Amino acid sequence: MTVDLDWENLGFNYRKLPFRYISYYKDGKWDEGQLTEDATLHISESSPALHYGQEAFEGLKAYRTKDGSIQLFRPDENAKRLQRTADRLLMPQVPVEKFVDACKKVVRANEEYVPPYGTGATLYLRPLLIGVGDIIGVHPADEYIFTIFAMPVGNYFKGGLAPTNFLIQDEYDRAAPHGTGAAKVGGNYAASMLPGKIAHDSNFSDVIYLDPATHTKIEEVGSANFFGITADNEFITPLSPSILPSITKFSLLYLAENRFGMKAIQGDVKIAELDKFVEAGACGTAAVITPIGGVQHGDDFHVFYSETEVGPVTRKLYDELTGIQFGDVEAPEGWIVKVD
Ligand code: PLP
Ligand code: COI
Repeated sequence: MTVDLDWENLGFNYRKLPFRYISYYKDGKWDEGQLTEDATLHISESSPALHYGQEAFEGLKAYRTKDGSIQLFRPDENAKRLQRTADRLLMPQVPVEKFVDACKKVVRANEEYVPPYGTGATLYLRPLLIGVGDIIGVHPADEYIFTIFAMPVGNYFKGGLAPTNFLIQDEYDRAAPHGTGAAKVGGNYAASMLPGKIAHDSNFSDVIYLDPATHTKIEEVGSANFFGITADNEFITPLSPSILPSITKFSLLYLAENRFGMKAIQGDVKIAELDKFVEAGACGTAAVITPIGGVQHGDDFHVFYSETEVGPVTRKLYDELTGIQFGDVEAPEGWIVKVD
């Protein structure tokens, strides 16, 4: 049973659902964790998460399949990435099993908000790990909260599989060469808000950031990774220590190579060589696969495939990925976790 919502037009918006999961870390260990109806966090005004950004988050989705069951896509990979982010910010790791179990609990408790199959909508899960407590020096916290809330979502970028334009940003970076770009920390997103506003104000969907050291190579979109397709059937995506290691991107690298016989490459994507791409896209949990119509860089506007039509390879990858996520296409081993 589902509640009655306008599933086709959800967008990507917060909605307060009945239940969320919360667990506390004190005296060097995690408690059992539990579901709660309280959507407000009660934390010390001096919490390091608030002052110094000692916080990490994740994003993953639950999918309703044709037979009405519900499944998660590679949640263990999100758990492992959260552990790597926690290591970077000196926060305690959340065990993979605890993470995946908590995801299942939140989905089950809010089951009627998992969108019906066929609407394209999903239940987005937002795990959050924050340093809390009475500490004001620039030190890691002694106490932590791990919480997961959920909301039904549709498209992150307007139009879903419709191509959209992006602004290549020369003036601002989202991350430093040896900073926290590869970690999913709030600070990266705070840094992206001003360049994001500049892009939105000029009708671009988001920013494409360049490598912070030389500004000659594409790094990623503010909320997704970048990929390009060449006429030689190559799937190319940037390799850099300062981009977020996207689980969607790694999944597409695998599918391009193993299901479509493409050459899957992680390497440099030089802005001087964009002509070699016949298609390009942004990929991520929220973005899914969003075709990139054109990119503005200074006075130059470069169109990859078309500003209005999705390219054939992008569509093929989209159908395979979403087919797996919604249970219509056989998944590589271990990619799907059923919520029973
Ligand atoms: N890059 C950034 C900056 C992101 O915020 C996200 C979203 O999580 C991604 C890439 C895509 O990562 P994933 O495919 O794991 O969702
Ligand atoms: C996600 O795709 O899950 C993200 O975290 C992107 C976010 C900035 C909306």
